[in-house]
Amino acid sequence: MNRSGCEFDRRRFLKAGMAAAGLAGFPAVVRAGGARIRIGLMLPYSGIYAPLGASIENGFRLALKEAGGAFAGRDVQFIKVNDESDPAKAPANIDRLVRQEKVDLVVGTVHSGVAVEMIRVTRAAGVMHIIPNAGLAAAGGALCAPNIFRTSFSNWQSGFAMGSVMARRSAVRKVVTLGWRYAAGEESVKGFRGAYLKGGGRIVKEMWLPFPAANYLSLLSEIAALKPHAVYAFLAGSAAAKFLRNYNQSGLTAIVPLVGPGFLTEGVLASTGGAAEGVETALHYGDRLETPKNKTFRLAYHTAFGQRPDVYAVAGYDAGQLFDAGMKAVKGNMNNKAQLIKAMEQTRLDSPRGPVQFSRAHNPIHDQYLRKVVGNENRVMEIAVKALDDDPATKAACRM
Ligand code: BEZ
Repeated sequence: MNRSGCEFDRRRFLKAGMAAAGLAGFPAVVRAGGARIRIGLMLPYSGIYAPLGASIENGFRLALKEAGGAFAGRDVQFIKVNDESDPAKAPANIDRLVRQEKVDLVVGTVHSGVAVEMIRVTRAAGVMHIIPNAGLAAAGGALCAPNIFRTSFSNWQSGFAMGSVMARRSAVRKVVTLGWRYAAGEESVKGFRGAYLKGGGRIVKEMWLPFPAANYLSLLSEIAALKPHAVYAFLAGSAAAKFLRNYNQSGLTAIVPLVGPGFLTEGVLASTGGAAEGVETALHYGDRLETPKNKTFRLAYHTAFGQRPDVYAVAGYDAGQLFDAGMKAVKGNMNNKAQLIKAMEQTRLDSPRGPVQFSRAHNPIHDQYLRKVVGNENRVMEIAVKALDDDPATKAACRM
């Protein structure tokens, strides 16, 4: 449902997309007709998710560079908006990109609460939108749309993968979960809970924090008193780094193993001073994935930006790869929207994470790896779940 309560109609969308410059039937948003493609990057450039936004932009720019600096021969103009991971500012920010700047493509964002506001606008306007992080369930469910793709993940996926791993361990029978109380934390814990309970495990306490709170001391004392067999934690960015340090300082590391979706340890190990050693996580990317694509990607990324890439860079890169594939199929003519969407739907990405295809809801289907922190690496240990699609209940809600 959109804000006005209307079901999104795929057939109407595609028909409209083919007629009259590809946008008849949509509210008064006039596309730029010039040779340059206008791409709106709506990402967090400040706050605890700022490093994630920077990685996504780097990854996208690398894909553009590898495409020859243009998508299907069309140069690019970036219009950047700092969304500050603030849902309250999201309607004005996305409105600026879509209605004032009249971008041809929106790439964003990280925070699921911001993403939901973006989707309401891009969905109604029919403007192409690639989500390079936010794992919001509704994006691949009730709010799915032909013009919206996600190159990252759903929050459910890595939670489900870690829950499956823990369920297989007979010594881990009671767990405490901890996470930010917004869509990402709730959906991640939901994925974990579903798989873990099905395997006979018990959740003794669910702990919640408001986003972006990073005061953990009372929670750590409570965990020590509860003595669970493991703690599953959803946190990310600099707040995750702080949690990993606090967890270690509290002395819990040796008594209660800490696990999570990969966001807990992704991109933060350099600032944990070894505090995360041994922490296990599940994610669709990790260090030491020895595929030819990953090797060339890591080298190119390091050469371009002087840093090691993380999962956020991979999703930004794949957003660029996906868009490039679509643009090549329509020879750079974005007015041919039906063809552009079809080509993107059929794209099989040679991603640094491994092969990726898109579900009917435009969400990635990809392997989930079990990783372990060894030194400064999230080292891939094994495949936790092969070719994982999204939560069946979420997918069922997607009508297009
Ligand atoms: C989210 O809001 O969906 C999210 C943010 C950071 C990491 C993972 C998911």
